[in-house]
Amino acid sequence: MASHSPFEQDVERVLIDEATLQARIKELASAITEAYEGQDLLLLAVLKGSVVFLADLMRGIDTPHSVDFMAVSSYGAGVQSTGVVRILKDLDRPIAGRNVLIVEDIIDSGHTLNYLVRMLQERNPGTLRVVTLLDKPSRREVNIPVDWVGFSIPNEFVIGYGLDYDELYRNLPYIGILKPDVYADLTAD
Ligand code: PRP
Repeated sequence: MASHSPFEQDVERVLIDEATLQARIKELASAITEAYEGQDLLLLAVLKGSVVFLADLMRGIDTPHSVDFMAVSSYGAGVQSTGVVRILKDLDRPIAGRNVLIVEDIIDSGHTLNYLVRMLQERNPGTLRVVTLLDKPSRREVNIPVDWVGFSIPNEFVIGYGLDYDELYRNLPYIGILKPDVYADLTAD
C-alpha cells in the first residue's frame, strides 16, 4: 500500500476516512441525479479545493451534465477567512437559463459562497443550487442556503481530499486534522 508520507506525520488524526467519504458522496450523487434527471445540469466547481470531490461526485451522477470552473481566492497563505473574494478565473460559457449546481469542498464563514451566489444570480441562471462536501456551521458569518451537505464538521483545521494548507496535503484520500505545530509559526505572526 502506497504511503502518503512525509505528509501523514503532520496529520493529528483522521476526521473522515476514505470509505465514509466515498459512501456519502455516492448518496449525494444519487440525490443530485434524482433532482436533475431529464433536465439540463451544469456543475460549477470552485477551484482548487473542490476538484477531488467533483471528480468522484460527477462519476456518481447518472444523468448527462457538463462542468465548468471558477477560481476565486478568499484566503491568503493564512488560516482565517478575510471575507474578501477575488475572481481569478471566470466561467468559460454563459449560464443564462441553465440549471447550475455550485460544487464546493467547504463552507466556513460563507463569504465566498455569498459573493458567488450574488454574482451568478445576476447572470440569470434557470436555477442555482449548492452542494458542499464539508460545512463548518459554527464558523458561519453570512447565512447562505445550502442544498446538499456531505458532512457538518467541528471547527478544526482540516486538510486532505482537496483541502490544503499552504497548497499541500490536497492528495490525501481522507479528511484529516492538521497538527497545530505545523501552522503554529503562521498563527504566531
Ligand atoms: C476555500 C473553499 C471555499 C472557501 C470557503 O477555498 O474552497 O471556496 O475557502 O471559505 P468561506 O466560507 O470562509 O468563504 P480556499 O480559499 O481555501 O481556496 P482553495 O479551494 O483553492 O484551497
